[in-house]
Amino acid sequence: MSERLQKYLARSGVASRRKSEEFIAAGRVQVNGETVTEMGTTVGPGDIVWFDGRPVEPEPLEYHLLNKPAGVVSTVSDPGGGRTVVRLVASRVRLFPVGRLDQDTTGLIILTNDGALAHKLMHPRFEVDKVYLAEIEGAVGEAVLRKLRRGLELEDGPTAPARARLVSRHSGGSIVEIAIHQGRKRQVRRMLEAVGHPVVRLHRKKYAMLSDDDLAPGQSRVLSRREVEDLQRLVTAGKQ
Ligand code: URA
Repeated sequence: MSERLQKYLARSGVASRRKSEEFIAAGRVQVNGETVTEMGTTVGPGDIVWFDGRPVEPEPLEYHLLNKPAGVVSTVSDPGGGRTVVRLVASRVRLFPVGRLDQDTTGLIILTNDGALAHKLMHPRFEVDKVYLAEIEGAVGEAVLRKLRRGLELEDGPTAPARARLVSRHSGGSIVEIAIHQGRKRQVRRMLEAVGHPVVRLHRKKYAMLSDDDLAPGQSRVLSRREVEDLQRLVTAGKQ
């Protein structure tokens, strides 16, 4: 199976595809001893690719599930020097998070170097289900839950219907479980704010079929082959 040289370089952890194209154009890449500057070049098994005078090989694909603690950012690097999800997971490959959780949100996030699967999981078309537990201000009643279920008008458009149920009530607050398949910025916080119940704490307890039962905050585990296949099936079929 052959593939474009820039894709091979990206899979090898050299740089993004676009950046790899610049490296090719700049004459920094050799295939089987010859410098290649053509953008359409493909490589396959048996081809030897060098970058800046060193052989490069695709990295093995890795899939980790992290229970993100509060105060950690869901990016590869933090210009502010804060802790990132990537630094919490031990790996030799260049991992990146699939989607985002707010800095203060805790819970499940996948880290991988499989760009194709990550891209699909994040695409709204595949409607990956995400379940959150939200501790909120005030006593929630059935009317509020109905609004959340129906969908709400937010400043960037209406939200899709969600699943919502009351888990418990305590003095001054409630805990609700809410399941959405969209991934808009601060969506759950904004939905709850819109119905008059600001979020005190937010935790993602399920991502697709993956749950956090055995992961303490800050812990991660490698997904099993079966779990990766299930995720792949999900985004191929477009349903859960
Ligand atoms: N919705 C939010 O408001 N925050 C998150 O981190 C995830 C979903």
